[in-house]
Amino acid sequence: MEDFKFDGTERLSVDYVKGILQPTPTCDMWDRIWNFQARSDDLLIATYPKAGTTWTQEIVDLIQNEGDIDKCQRAPTHIRIPFIEWIIPSIGSGLDRANEMPSPRTLKTHLPIHLLPPSFIEKNCKIIYVARNPKDNMVSYYHFQRMNKALPAPGTWEEYFENFLAGKVCWGSWHDHVKGWWKAKDQHRILYLFYEDVKKNPKHEIQKVAEFIGKNLHDEVLDKIVHHTSFDVMKQNPMANYSSVPTKIMNHTVSPFMRKGTVGDWKNHFTVAQNERFNEDYEKKMADTNITFHFQFS
Ligand code: A3P
Repeated sequence: MEDFKFDGTERLSVDYVKGILQPTPTCDMWDRIWNFQARSDDLLIATYPKAGTTWTQEIVDLIQNEGDIDKCQRAPTHIRIPFIEWIIPSIGSGLDRANEMPSPRTLKTHLPIHLLPPSFIEKNCKIIYVARNPKDNMVSYYHFQRMNKALPAPGTWEEYFENFLAGKVCWGSWHDHVKGWWKAKDQHRILYLFYEDVKKNPKHEIQKVAEFIGKNLHDEVLDKIVHHTSFDVMKQNPMANYSSVPTKIMNHTVSPFMRKGTVGDWKNHFTVAQNERFNEDYEKKMADTNITFHFQFS
């Protein structure tokens, strides 16, 4: 890895960690990630990729700073809230950033529950998990892989659709991810949220997050946070829209990071046959859980 210079002309390669695909630099430092030392006052935001992580990070940071917009402009999202298993050679490592950070820390992970560094559970850390309906999640991930050279090229939409269903994408199967964390929420301090709920009733969900974090916010502050975490405002916010990441890694002209931010965009991508195939597969894989997802707003 030392010799590897990521200059943006190539994609990062991937490999398996305990059966889950990960970018190779993450695999190479897996022991350090697994042995990560959480602190009891850490707050962890856990998601499957493209489930609304950045949105949740902005909401949490604004809550912690009681709606102070200027304070939340202090640095880009990934610096304010380190992504613990993320590393791009020559650019940086979320793990190092997290280790250097004073407490209290807010951290991010995409790891499935069985790959979560054990210290988070041992220290009884608060965790916010956000899940998004898999059809929109898949579409969002496909476009993200097109624009982000730190992940493999997605191939055609048809190929990507099959790989996603087979869990052959980084961070593994969407189904196992949401189910694993859903099960864990009954044993640990986990607030389990849904992207669609935040979209439908942001104030209500933001209030829920504030309560979980232990912040009692005035109504005006809540309204301010709703406004500043709306899609249109975040899209224009250079500290929240990933425009600070070098273009050789994320190319927003291919597909912007803040792409659409809607529920139901999958209908513009799925063919009728893909939708039927998806639903059949979903029935089988989700038969052993009682989680309910909303795929569209009526
Ligand atoms: P789309 O690609 O469907 O637009 P993550 O942060 O986990 O990578 O998720 C990115 C997805 O969340 C993208 O979805 C992005 O547009 C969406 N998103 C980011 N901020 C949002 C906001 N304030 N409101 C709604 N969706 C948002």
